[in-house]
Amino acid sequence: MATPLSRRLNFIFLICGELVLGQIRYSIPEELEHGAFVGNIAEDLGLSIREITGRKFKLVYDDGMQLLKVNMGNGILFVNHRIDREFLCGQSSTCSVSFDVALENPLEMHRVDVEILDINDNSPSFAKSRYYLQVSEVTAAGAFFRLDSAQDPDVGINSVNTYQISTNKHFGLKTHTRNDGSKIAELVLETPLDREKLSTIHLTLTAFDGGIPHRSGNAEIIITVLDFNDNTPVFDHKIYSVNIMENAPIGHLVLTINATDLDEGTNGEVKYILPSDANQRVQELFSLDPISGQIRVQGSLDYEEKSIYELEVEAVDNGTPALNARAEILVELIDVNDNPPELKVSSLSRKVREDAAFGSVVAIISVMDQDSGANGQVQCQLPPNIPFKLQKSFNNKHKLVINDTLDRETTPYYNICISAWDAGSPRLSTNRTILVSISDINDNVPRFTQASYNVFLMENNTPGASIFAVTALDPDLDKNSKLSYSLLEYRREDVSRSGDVTVNSETGHIYALRSFDYEIREKIQIKIQAQDAGIPPLSSTAIVNIVILDQNDNVPVIVAPSKYNSSTAMEVVPMSAYPGYLVTKVIATDTDSGQNARLSYQLVEATDRNLFRVGIMSGEMRTTRRFRDHDVPIQRFSSVARFLALESVS
Ligand SMILES: *[C@@H]1O[C@H](CO)[C@@H](O)[C@H](O)[C@H]1NC(C)=O
Ligand SMILES: *[C@@H]1O[C@H](CO)[C@@H](O)[C@H](O)[C@H]1NC(C)=O
Ligand SMILES: *[C@@H]1O[C@H](CO)[C@@H](O)[C@H](O)[C@H]1NC(C)=O
Ligand SMILES: *[C@@H]1O[C@H](CO)[C@@H](O)[C@H](O)[C@H]1NC(C)=O
Repeated sequence: MATPLSRRLNFIFLICGELVLGQIRYSIPEELEHGAFVGNIAEDLGLSIREITGRKFKLVYDDGMQLLKVNMGNGILFVNHRIDREFLCGQSSTCSVSFDVALENPLEMHRVDVEILDINDNSPSFAKSRYYLQVSEVTAAGAFFRLDSAQDPDVGINSVNTYQISTNKHFGLKTHTRNDGSKIAELVLETPLDREKLSTIHLTLTAFDGGIPHRSGNAEIIITVLDFNDNTPVFDHKIYSVNIMENAPIGHLVLTINATDLDEGTNGEVKYILPSDANQRVQELFSLDPISGQIRVQGSLDYEEKSIYELEVEAVDNGTPALNARAEILVELIDVNDNPPELKVSSLSRKVREDAAFGSVVAIISVMDQDSGANGQVQCQLPPNIPFKLQKSFNNKHKLVINDTLDRETTPYYNICISAWDAGSPRLSTNRTILVSISDINDNVPRFTQASYNVFLMENNTPGASIFAVTALDPDLDKNSKLSYSLLEYRREDVSRSGDVTVNSETGHIYALRSFDYEIREKIQIKIQAQDAGIPPLSSTAIVNIVILDQNDNVPVIVAPSKYNSSTAMEVVPMSAYPGYLVTKVIATDTDSGQNARLSYQLVEATDRNLFRVGIMSGEMRTTRRFRDHDVPIQRFSSVARFLALESVS
């Protein structure tokens, strides 16, 4: 060790009688190795080497610690044991090792103080390597937190001089010097904390001493930011909107709401509730699970009742005081085609005149459908081939109008099935049948079953008997078809006489009022009218030909040969007449007609039946052979009148 490290501070010599007292001061740094030079004590005391040994030079310690020794060979004071100033003197600012030097002959005492100078051989250190600090996140800026001081056994400039903190956003460091010169440090909150952003802060606190070179010591400061209920729950959407079918069953999950609260622990536990001011109906229809946030259907929804529900939901945390937030939920119902169309028939004229004009309104039909959109679009249909059609009117109204001629006689009424279909899926329909009766008007003329009738009536009929009945038909109804018959006019062959026939006006029966003689009149023609009771009445006529039939009520009358007297005719035939000689031709007449007047001739009685022959049809009487002598000259035939003109009846 080099000498400069030791310093001789001063020498004070006091000579008192025999005893010489002196004081010597040295100065050395601590921690010198064994043998390090402190001072040339012999020289400083003015002693030669010889005097040292001759005068029993001796070091006298108070405490017996031989920290320094003297080399008796050269009188140099050196370090015997390594000296630790901190051990020897602690934190005391001055430190020295003192001893006496004793000499004999004469007795001399010298006080030697060796000042031990501090060297920076200790680093600052903290009592703990980690310090834990808890700071509430709501702590205001400017708040400070006292930190444990670091210790450095060195003194003065070599002791703790400054503190430093690792760079961070929130904390700074403030150092104070106490009266005794020691330094203390405080953490100062410079920027407010937010646990939700940074919940733990690790800082390194370093204490430096003032020695050269610097020595330092570290400690870790772990700051836990304490939660404060400073965050409201936050819904993941401000407005939730969802569409569900209106027929969603009870229990159907509408949606799950989710709110998060950045706070910790109970401050961050979120519960969902329907706020107390929630609509009553909403509370009936929807349930909200406070824990899961699931909103489910719990009532029967109906699009037609309401198609959009606005629910408010609230998320509340469990902190004190509790913080809450609200979100809105729009539940929009999707219409399901669950309502068939409705048909309403109004102002229906139950009876429609059959002569009603085209376009006449029979009924007003209102259609409605509770559903919306296509589900509520209604179309009306009529069955095909009916004389009606639907005309769209305003406001979902349709007019049922006449589109063709009506004829009560062919179709007296219509059961019209009106179908209303919506356009939903599936399409729903409603049917409504309305009865439309057609009222009669007198549009049909009565018609006789035939245009003319031939009635054959045997002459000599009984007067007053019904000889025939005519029938006319009228398809109209009631009065319009109530017929009465009457005779219009006579057209007779001969004289006109009224009162031949009569007709029953109701039944159409024709009665003969007298007995007819064919031989007088063969035919009677009458005209009969049938008239209905409509207004105005309609009528038609028919001809009835009454043909009188001949009865064989007249005897043939022989008109030739002409009679000789009232009962006998006579013809003269020569004897020489050849066979086939025409004797005479019998001619008879009959006033009857037809067969009744067709005559045949026959010989009834004769003198000689073999001599003559009569042509049945011709009435010619001829000889069959020559006359003989013995023939009776006058042949007598039973009166010629007895030639019968026979009716040739079948
Ligand atoms: C709620 O939202 C948070 C943040 O978006 C998410 O981490 C969490 O899983 C969600 N919870 C549910 C039940 O969806
Ligand atoms: C209405 O009558 C017209 C003319 O006869 C016809 O063309 C049309 O098809 C009818 N309308 C209906 C709906 O029956
Ligand atoms: C209405 O009538 C139509 C056609 O006849 C039929 O298809 C439909 O099913 C009916 N609707 C109802 C509700 O009876
Ligand atoms: C008609 O004359 C015939 C022949 O002369 C005679 O036999 C007959 O008696 C006469 N009859 C009458 C009614 O006179």
